[in-house]
Amino acid sequence: MTPTPAKDLSDSGETAYFGYRRVAAADKGHLVCNHFNTVAARYDLMNTLLSFGLHHLWKRTAVQMLGLKPGDRVLDVCGGTGDLALLAARRVGHRGRIVIYDINRAMLAAGRPKIACSPLAPRIDYLQGDAERLSCPDNSFDAATVGFGIRNLTHPENGFKEMHRVLKPGGRLMCLEFSQPTWSWFRWLYDLYSFYFMPLAGKIMVGSWQAYTYLPESIRMFARPQELSAVLEEIGFTRVRFRRLTNGIAAVHVGVKTP
Ligand SMILES: C[S@@+](CC[C@H](N)C(=O)[O-])C[C@H]1O[C@@H](n2cnc3c(N)ncnc32)[C@H](O)[C@@H]1O
Repeated sequence: MTPTPAKDLSDSGETAYFGYRRVAAADKGHLVCNHFNTVAARYDLMNTLLSFGLHHLWKRTAVQMLGLKPGDRVLDVCGGTGDLALLAARRVGHRGRIVIYDINRAMLAAGRPKIACSPLAPRIDYLQGDAERLSCPDNSFDAATVGFGIRNLTHPENGFKEMHRVLKPGGRLMCLEFSQPTWSWFRWLYDLYSFYFMPLAGKIMVGSWQAYTYLPESIRMFARPQELSAVLEEIGFTRVRFRRLTNGIAAVHVGVKTP
């Protein structure tokens, strides 16, 4: 259960981390895809149960921090079942557009009924593809979001570089990702919860203990908020700032592509 120190966002080159396992970079995508195939049908329910509903609050805060305007075009990378897209759609008005971009068909399919029932559905489109090679033109979006997705990429930096490429000059990035509590006693409790209770809940709800060991392991292996800020600045984002949520269980970063 001992948390492992944060690593670089990814290994350069041939290996990557899948949770605590070091795997061939070429294999990580398949492992991640299998993981989301396993959890897709119950993804929303599990998120709500395991976070005691807090993920809704985190997502609302994150979208608020992005400062969307009516008419904005937004790319929701690793958009999954579309929670962030729905929140963004409310803010961009009827002239705005949101594209949910995700590699996993099962995750997109799991979110479709929820979106189809919403009056905001006409503002939302879907694209299936790899976040490390976005099939979108340069300088085409006013904002890009990624929620709980970036740590799943084989090379997260490539995902951020791609988001930077497709943003218009002056466009805004928002990254919402899990992190770790700052208070040590709370971190201890959170470790206990996430390494024992989460996998057990995974076993009961989706029939896989392993699916929910990947989650806490991948969180422990991901960059700390300050490290992530430095990566974003290196890629070319300016005015980068972050906010810890719920004592650091999650963190929101925002930044701007230099106008
Ligand atoms: C934890 S879910 C987050 C879903 C949603 N953003 C949310 O906040 O609830 C991560 C998503 O990232 C997607 N994903 C993982 N690797 C990806 C990649 N290389 N390209 C695009 N999407 C990817 C998964 O399919 C999954 O839907």
